Amino acid sequence: MVQLGQFPPARHVIAHISDTHFLGARRPLYGAVDTDPPLAFALQLLERSNLPIEAIVVTGDLADLAEPDAYARLKATVEPAAAKLGASIVWVMGNHDERPAYSAGLFGEESTAPQDRVEMIGGLRIISLDSTVPGYHHGALLDSQLEWLTEVLAEPAADGTLLAMHHPPLPSPVEIMAILELQQMDRLADVIRGTDVRAILAGHLHHAMSGMFAGIPVSVAAATCYTIDPSAPVGSLLGVDGAQSINLVHVYDDQILHSVVPAVETRQVSGFPDSVLGALAAMSPDDRIQAFSYKKSTFNLAEVESSAAPE
Ligand SMILES: [Fe+2]
Ligand SMILES: [Fe+2]
Repeated sequence: MVQLGQFPPARHVIAHISDTHFLGARRPLYGAVDTDPPLAFALQLLERSNLPIEAIVVTGDLADLAEPDAYARLKATVEPAAAKLGASIVWVMGNHDERPAYSAGLFGEESTAPQDRVEMIGGLRIISLDSTVPGYHHGALLDSQLEWLTEVLAEPAADGTLLAMHHPPLPSPVEIMAILELQQMDRLADVIRGTDVRAILAGHLHHAMSGMFAGIPVSVAAATCYTIDPSAPVGSLLGVDGAQSINLVHVYDDQILHSVVPAVETRQVSGFPDSVLGALAAMSPDDRIQAFSYKKSTFNLAEVESSAAPE
């Protein structure tokens, strides 16, 4: 593969999905939203992409009421897609999940213990951290979990670590969600600051968002079920059936990118087939600049003409 810019290809590509909120018997969420099509659509896009996706990370609120058949349906939806991609699945607990049903349904052994796990993707470590409090919607971490995390992080991974947790360690622009935030975030900061944690993947807020915590970038994926509109009138909470999305995470040697992918049908209005990229890749760097960057190249003039021509 020819390198077209200044960066070699990403070392790892991960799909980050959040807040599927499946209900049992495929009942619609709030009696209004079919939770399944956006997730299925997003998985189709991942397959179509031909990207070398190594893991699908699902950051919690997997099943809205923690019903066993909701976990079974989610597993039956994601596992075949992951198998086609050759990707691992990293499940993460969310506040709508319940540890016994989650552990039984997804890992085959029922447990009430915090669901913390480590997955290695080549040299990249992905830690699934259970930030839930049984019986509540806010987040918290036990002393024992922070001790466990400290031990795990004591040894760095070759390509660093992604920490996947449902409750983002950030403020919430939607004020009411602050009640449901992770408690005592400073304790987590003390554990991960200065370690090899390179990014935190989270969910819970139902809208895409990014910030920094303890010097580490945090990326919140929106939801596949319904989204929360952060521009809603102050003081209100507005869940909407639209803008469902997932994220692609490109892990480079010195950078990590989080790109939002729509999980709903869209209408194509422009683009190029991959044959164009092939032709550009065959050129010298200077010819490529002339062909694709120069505003008056035949390539770009053809684009301008197609915009001007009525259909
Ligand atoms: Fe959620
Ligand atoms: Fe949540």
